[in-house]
Amino acid sequence: MKNSRTDIEEESIIPPVLPTYARTNMAIERGEGVYAYDQDGKKYLDFGCGIGVNNLGFCHPELVEAITEQAKKVWHTSNIYRIPGQEILAERLAKHSFADTMFFTNSGAEAVECALKMARKYHYENDTPERYRVITFEGCFHGRTLATIAASGQEKLTKGFGPMLDGFDHVPFYRDMAKVEQAITHKTAAIMIEPVMGEGGIKPVSSDNMQILRDLCDKHGLLLILDEVQCGMGRTEKLFAYQHSGISPDILCTAKGIGGGFPLGACLATEKVGRAMTVGSHGSTYGGNPMAMAIGNKVLDILLADGFLSHVEKMSFDLRKGLMKLRHDFPDVIELVRGIGLMLGLRLKVTPPADFVAKALEQGLLLVGAADNVVRLLPPLIIEKEHITEALEKLTKVCAEINRELPDPQSEEE
Ligand SMILES: Cc1ncc(COP(=O)(O)O)c(C=O)c1O
Repeated sequence: MKNSRTDIEEESIIPPVLPTYARTNMAIERGEGVYAYDQDGKKYLDFGCGIGVNNLGFCHPELVEAITEQAKKVWHTSNIYRIPGQEILAERLAKHSFADTMFFTNSGAEAVECALKMARKYHYENDTPERYRVITFEGCFHGRTLATIAASGQEKLTKGFGPMLDGFDHVPFYRDMAKVEQAITHKTAAIMIEPVMGEGGIKPVSSDNMQILRDLCDKHGLLLILDEVQCGMGRTEKLFAYQHSGISPDILCTAKGIGGGFPLGACLATEKVGRAMTVGSHGSTYGGNPMAMAIGNKVLDILLADGFLSHVEKMSFDLRKGLMKLRHDFPDVIELVRGIGLMLGLRLKVTPPADFVAKALEQGLLLVGAADNVVRLLPPLIIEKEHITEALEKLTKVCAEINRELPDPQSEEE
């Protein structure tokens, strides 16, 4: 019987860090540009970016300078005071997007939570409080809070955490737009979608389908919420992925790349939606603190500098070309290449993504798995041609090794 602290300690097998991740047994000790170094000094080419976060690579000198300077001034003040960095960043993001106003958060899930609250409050303030439901898409990922797992609805995220927050209607993946309209009722408040599905396996929504969603929202009085936590901030060659499509949303969530590795997110909205969020309706202790704002403003300086996004476009073209050749050379390993900008995925024929990622790690290349048997390539937006060549060499070795291990179809037939 466990009756003393010592007994509990002796019998305990749980590590001090809650084991919610299937972690790779490697720790990055330091990073420089597009390279990471582990505790043994092994060098890795980083094509994962900490899952689409370190968009400007490790320790970008301008980011290091910005945060160091800010650290000498003030770290935290609370949102009960004005934070000038927020006012500057918000004005700049608004100038370069559809948005009129925004709320700063510490993470992507918080930005999505804010979006969901905004959608409900908008309808409440417009005398349609019965409209609280949000249509989302099967396979989507919006975070790990109770609201955002309910939004996703995937069993792997929700199992054991019931009862789920009410208010989400899930429709099949967005190729079948008729299903979306069928799901709309008098209770629907909004449609929420990732313009490029990330965790779900790098699936871009076509411009035509974005237009259909916009039209449906206009026709039925709904809000269009875009989750650009992974695909925003230059990752797809535009500042925001929706800018490829010619439509504009009512609400947009961003995070990851906006902080270049510092925890920062934002929920952007039009004036008509933002007006519903009155004093006291939302808040965050740390959201938009001076440190995050110093970094966010510097990240934006770099992304908006002349030629930066066209560089992303050029690199995307070269990388995609190389990946198509890889698929051609290893048709039994890679089924297809998809994605946009520097958010590319390799859909594998049979190999589990985790095995591919592990083999790439051995070769000194960091990649990230995704659903739908996809391996994600999310390199820093600052990569150059030589890094693409290096990545393709390593990927070729990985594919060749997998190819050798595949069962010979002839011997299987015998
Ligand atoms: C599209 C999308 N939305 C939301 C999130 C949640 O962001 P965070 O982990 O910062 O809460 C993620 C994280 O991967 C994401 O990819």
